[in-house]
Amino acid sequence: MSTPAAHSKILILDFGSQYTQVIARRIRECQVYSEIVRFDIPAAEVIELKPNGIVLSGGPASVYDTSAPQLDPAIFSLGIPMLGICYGMQLMAQHLGGQVEFSAQREYGAGMLHVANGSELFHGIGAQLDIWNSHGDKVTALPPGFRAAAHTENSRFAAIENPETQIYGLQFHPEVAHTPRGKEIIQNFVFHICHCAMDWTMGSFIETACDLVRRQVGNQKVVLGLSGGVDSSVVAALLHKAIGDQLTCIFVNNGLLRSREEEIVQRVFGENFHVRLKYVDASERFLELLKGVTDPETKRKIIGNEFVAVFERATKELLAEDQANGSGEHGGYRFLAQGTLYPDVIESVAIGGNPAHVIKSHHNVGGLPEKMHFELVEPVRQLFKDEVRQAGLQLGLPKEVVYRQPFPGPGLAVRILGEVTPERLQILREADTIVTSEMEAADWYYRVWQSFAVLLPVRSVGVMGDQRTYEDTVAIRIVESQDGMTADWVRLPYELLARISRRIINEVAGVNRVCYDISSKPPSTIEWE
Ligand code: XMP
Repeated sequence: MSTPAAHSKILILDFGSQYTQVIARRIRECQVYSEIVRFDIPAAEVIELKPNGIVLSGGPASVYDTSAPQLDPAIFSLGIPMLGICYGMQLMAQHLGGQVEFSAQREYGAGMLHVANGSELFHGIGAQLDIWNSHGDKVTALPPGFRAAAHTENSRFAAIENPETQIYGLQFHPEVAHTPRGKEIIQNFVFHICHCAMDWTMGSFIETACDLVRRQVGNQKVVLGLSGGVDSSVVAALLHKAIGDQLTCIFVNNGLLRSREEEIVQRVFGENFHVRLKYVDASERFLELLKGVTDPETKRKIIGNEFVAVFERATKELLAEDQANGSGEHGGYRFLAQGTLYPDVIESVAIGGNPAHVIKSHHNVGGLPEKMHFELVEPVRQLFKDEVRQAGLQLGLPKEVVYRQPFPGPGLAVRILGEVTPERLQILREADTIVTSEMEAADWYYRVWQSFAVLLPVRSVGVMGDQRTYEDTVAIRIVESQDGMTADWVRLPYELLARISRRIINEVAGVNRVCYDISSKPPSTIEWE
């Protein structure tokens, strides 16, 4: 899917910085579209993409490494404004005839920037500002035509510029929160230097996305696996707006859902949106297959494979229903819609083993195999998670759906350690409902990444009244995280933890002990299996 040329656009050449996606998000927060491309994109392709400006990201390499990632030097002569950040600035200086000094040690941390007069980059920001450094090499002599736009105590050339060719460089990182006025620097580049229009709004995105979907699918039918999570829900709402009844959502109840999940999804989509929704209750089949299984990987495989089988069957049934009621004239379901997001599609550049791009394979459970021969419709593949949420709100989805915490495809099966049985599912559902309702009541639910209960295969001794008990243990997992890749346990108020524990032990039959999980990720994971 491409954006219409009418949009302003900033291209970011990715040299492997852990902050590349942050740069893209900062620019989009200015309501300007930004796109990440590989560092070695040829100049001819850049011309085709018609960007208003180009950012060279930072990166872990030194410009003196023999394998240092290089850009096509012809890009410097395209007359498009450029901003090099950190490694990007050093590369720029090296290519344009300046000098870069090799340094084996990186300079990390906070610093104070002193701005020279008259730089467009620092327009309206004042003479001094706090900045965040993380660089190795340093520019020691300017390329011809350049001047220093700012300095720090350690560096004469902390910001450089050639206003004539509109090429700028920053040794520090304007995109991170530790450079509090960095957003204004980015705005200056985007608006004052690149003259972008603020035309990347959710309203315009939705209109464009609907147009593109209509063009892609024509009068054909589309099927979507609706999980009740944010991404597939937003895709459902978007496609419904674009193609109405040409979309059918399939919602599979695998018997491993949270309490009342199937009700919520059917209410939001069937009743509020009048989406054509096929509800498949396959819970008995899933639980039958999981009988006696305790190994985590085996559980995941069984659930993943059965999901595909159920989905395939459901699509065939839909087809038969269409033919029976005379609406089968456009053949089968050629298109499959998916809630793929931008971080999943950015081509990863792993330079120096940078872990920022390592994608977890097991999260594709519930993804459908290629052999199903569907053509994919992925209308939100340009969006970051926070943008998907904005799109959802704009499309009229309720806040409870849009700000929902993530829930794994294999559901409660990976939160029941040991065998999954109807009785143990019942215990976990009740405990989980208490965790969620207490988190909501205390205004904590939306402040954390995830909060849930886990049922352990451990019994312990307790005492209730005069009776000795020997019952199950529930662990509470509450974490904060930006993207699920790393996480830390939340320092929840003791009072709230106490209430959750008290209610679970009093109200959930079969549980006499509650523990709080105080492990971070890594080395632990968020889910227990
Ligand atoms: P872990 O447990 O690997 O989880 O730290 C990181 C994030 O991913 C979610 N998760 C999944 N999501 N299918 C999904 O759609 C899965 O199989 C799956 N496994 C884990 C998890 O809830 C957390 O947010």
